[in-house]
This record gives sequence, structure tokens and C-alpha cells, in this order.
Amino acid sequence: MIPFNKPYCSGRELKYMEQVCHSTTMSGNGDFTKKCHAFFEEKYGFKKVLLCTSGTDALEMCAMLCDLKPGDEVIVPSYTFVSTAIAFLREGAKVVFADSGSQNPNITLDAIRPLVTERTRVIAVVHYAGVACDMDAIMQFADERGILVVEDAAHSIDASYKGRPLGGIGHLGAFSFHETKNINCGEGGMLVVNDERFLRRAEIIWEKGTNRAEFYRGMVNKYGWCDMGSSFLPSEFNAAYLWAQLEQMEDIQEKRLAIWNTYDSILRGNLKNGMVLPVLPDFATNNAHIYYLLCPSLEYRTAFLKYLKENGVVATFHYLALHNSVYYRDRHDGRALPNCDRYENCLVRLPLYYELSLEEAESIARLVLAFDGQS
Ligand SMILES: Cc1ncc(COP(=O)(O)O)c(C=O)c1O
Repeated sequence: MIPFNKPYCSGRELKYMEQVCHSTTMSGNGDFTKKCHAFFEEKYGFKKVLLCTSGTDALEMCAMLCDLKPGDEVIVPSYTFVSTAIAFLREGAKVVFADSGSQNPNITLDAIRPLVTERTRVIAVVHYAGVACDMDAIMQFADERGILVVEDAAHSIDASYKGRPLGGIGHLGAFSFHETKNINCGEGGMLVVNDERFLRRAEIIWEKGTNRAEFYRGMVNKYGWCDMGSSFLPSEFNAAYLWAQLEQMEDIQEKRLAIWNTYDSILRGNLKNGMVLPVLPDFATNNAHIYYLLCPSLEYRTAFLKYLKENGVVATFHYLALHNSVYYRDRHDGRALPNCDRYENCLVRLPLYYELSLEEAESIARLVLAFDGQS
């Protein structure tokens, strides 16, 4: 069976974790955390980054930094992982779900515009599959109205919009290093602070509401409770594991792109019976996080996934749109979100991981064509 995912391992993870065992800092914000921070700040020019224990935690930090009041509204795509919405709900905000675009699952300014009220404080965008939303349009619209933009860049490592790295465009950004991501440390994430206003508070929230990071830098001679916070920083073991992967980032990205391009070169232009391929806008790069297709219906997708499984390939669907969820459907205002429903019912992700050989990718693409030919 070809699995859907195999988390990447560079082989140096254990060596670096062993170094942590022999060091005096295991808890967090030690040498490996600093190496990871410097990597992102130097490579992508991010103003400030803070490793977190998950992408969910990074989003929760974003929501805390937005300083929401009861009744404040946050616009969130419905076709996303629960964490994008929960982060803001936990802060007492009202989540207003937006539909995805018709070209890909990202939200568009056209979907956002009619949802804005005088209570809208934040727009959360998700760059689905690492493909950028149209950030210039969204940022200009938000800035004119004093609305904050949080980029859920969980899928978006090493991806960009008009040459600018994703996660570094909104006021705040959140990455995930969950085992399903291009670069992983089991569970992990990262907050990106792009707006100066949030720099100090971000570090305090990260360190359980204390100014401990300033104390370690020798800026104060004791540290104490300054604000709300939680234990968002990961241990040095996670950072060491992550560092082993960051060192190999170019190789990982090159291999993933080769797999993505193998699928695409065989499938694009050759699907005849209803399945369609994603549209990559000109302003976006491709970080090869996900290769997906859209089936014409739920029934078609069920049969397609079964066919792939019978032929030794595990492919899978993705999100259940949040406005339809058991938890939220009674709170949703009842608006139809047809594009989200379509992605929920029709999207299929093909296997995509470092160890997948190009021959395997080619044989999977041939199976897709064979199913398409029969249907
Ligand atoms: C769009 C999106 N946001 C946030 C998350 C949460 O990230 P994590 O699993 O690292 O908490 C995910 C998880 O995969 C995701 O797909």
C-alpha cells in the first residue's frame, strides 16, 4: 500500500536531540530555538518569529494579540482546519464564516467584503495548499478600515506572493510543523510578528505572561507577571528535531516539487470526464505541500477513493467545512457557502511525501487517468 503521508526524517534528528540531553537548557528558548528563529528571520526577512508547540498555539497567540472584545467579529474561511476558528472563539469573538473562491479553496475579497460590519476586527486568511490568497487586495481593504489580517500559513512554508514570503504579509502569521507538513517536528508551529506594535507583547504571551525573555537577554534584573499568556514555547527537543529538517529544506522542497510536477505533467490537460485540477494564480509560487483534484460529486469521489485503495494507494479528502460542523452549524447564520461545500465533498489529495519515488507518483497518476477513462 502506498500511504498518504510519511513524515520526513533527515537522519540528524536524534543526534541533535542527544546534544540537548547533554546541555543545560532543555525547556525551551535555548540554542536550537535560537538557530531556528535566526533561520526564518534571515531567510525570509520576518521581523520576529517565535517557535510554538503547534500551529494551533501560534494561531491562539495571534488571536490573543488582536485583543478582541466580546462582540468583535472575525472573518474566517469555513473551509479550513478547526484551529483557525477556535483560536478566535476562545477570545470571545464572533466568527463569521466566508465562502472559498471558485478557482481554489482560498477566500477572496469578493467573499469578505459583504461580511464586514463596524464590529469586524480581524480577517483570517488561509493559504490553502501553500498557494497565496490575493494579499494586496485583502491588505489594502483591511488597512483602509483598521482591520487586522492574520495569515494562517500552516501549509505555507517557503511559499510566496509576488515575491513576498507568506506569513510575512499580514499583521501576524502562523505556521505549522505538524507531521503532515513539508517540514515537521511531530507537533510544532511558529508565530510571525510583522507589526511592531505586537513585538513585546508576543514574547510575554509566549512566556506564560512573564517578561522572562527580556530577563534572559539581560534587559531586566528580575522577571515577573506582566500580562496574559500561556506555555506556548516548545522544548529544545522539538527545536532540535526541527533544526535537523530546516538544514535539509532545499532538498525537501526540490523532491516534493518533483513529485508535484510528475503528477501535474501527466494529469493536466488529460482528464476528460469531470475531474479538475487546481488553479495556481500567477502571483503565487508552489511549495508542493498538497497535490489535489476536484471530483464532480461526492459519489464520484467515494468511488474514486475506493478505486485507488483497491489499487494500493491511500488518497484522502480534506476539511469538513466548519459552518456545517456539529459544533458550529446552529451558531452559523445560515448563509449558504457553496464553494466550501464543493471542496468538502469533492476534493481529493494524492500521496505526497519525500520518500515517494517519481515512479510511484507516475503510477498513481496513471491510475487517476484510468479511473477518469472508465467514468
Ligand atoms: C489551515 C490549518 N491551520 C492550522 C492548523 C493547525 O496546525 P497544528 O496541527 O500544527 O496545530 C492546521 C493543521 O493541519 C491547518 O491545516
